Amino acid sequence: MANWLGLEGRVIIVTGGASGIANHVVTTLKAADAVPVIADVSVQTGQELSGAYCIHCDVTSKESVQAMVDAVVAKYGKLDALVNVAGINLPRLLVDVKGEHPEYELDDNSYDKMFDINVRGMVYCAQACARQMLKQGNGGVIVGMSSESGKEGSQGQSAYSATNGARDSLVRSWAKELGPYNIRVVGVAPGIMEATGLRTPAYNTALAYTRGVKVEDLSTDYTKVIPLGRDGKLDEVGNLVAFLVSDRASYITGTTVNISGGKSRG
Ligand SMILES: NC(=O)c1ccc[n+]([C@@H]2O[C@H](COP(=O)([O-])OP(=O)(O)OC[C@H]3O[C@@H](n4cnc5c(N)ncnc54)[C@H](O)[C@@H]3O)[C@@H](O)[C@H]2O)c1
Repeated sequence: MANWLGLEGRVIIVTGGASGIANHVVTTLKAADAVPVIADVSVQTGQELSGAYCIHCDVTSKESVQAMVDAVVAKYGKLDALVNVAGINLPRLLVDVKGEHPEYELDDNSYDKMFDINVRGMVYCAQACARQMLKQGNGGVIVGMSSESGKEGSQGQSAYSATNGARDSLVRSWAKELGPYNIRVVGVAPGIMEATGLRTPAYNTALAYTRGVKVEDLSTDYTKVIPLGRDGKLDEVGNLVAFLVSDRASYITGTTVNISGGKSRG
């Protein structure tokens, strides 16, 4: 059943693929004999990483995104799917009530950065990829990485949560627009995952302040908040994405799939 997914030879752009969740998506796709291409601001074009060809791309630049998609088509002759994962998270309070760290209050700079990369970047990537898929005329898949915070909100992460709510809305609307052309658009919303590049010391310090705790008290006893009693594995997200980009998920579009071990508000 090694090839049950039928992804052999499928050309799949993975934005943000140099790190974290997206990198595990890349290795999972590789293991299924697909052809993932890493599009990331932190790689050099032509470099190989995790067995995948890399293209330097800043998703906040329309020109950079178009050049990346053109390069993929020039090299492989086609594009089958986009997995949009590039994103950042800057913990910020709406109001720094204690007034001890005004730098952790939401400002234009942090707001713009998060919306530029997480939302505008997804629009640019999806637009360029959908144009190519429409030109090819045989369908395609767009997966938009989101977050459980987009549905539930998150203390100290309101703008980040809002970017994920926006990503979910983009997914639902694009699925309606592109469904007639057999292009499926699906969101994936992880909850608390094992650590990635996103959890830097600066991130932890900011998050701890916005939650009123010390950095060392940030890691919680997951058995209390996650029904499955543990954080999620990045490979578990990789497995879900591999399924969603495959024809095995041929009737799934216009929805965001939660992958959070059962964690929710209730
Ligand atoms: N890690 C989690 O627990 C978690 C949970 C839910 C959702 N998510 C979402 O998953 C996505 C990835 O998170 P991660 O934890 O794997 O992060 P990460 O920091 O490990 O990886 C993000 C990647 O995006 C790339 N990137 C950043 N800005 C870019 C730009 N302008 N153009 C191109 N590439 C750019 C980075 O270079 C990096 O390789 C984010 O969108 C995040 O919202 C993460």
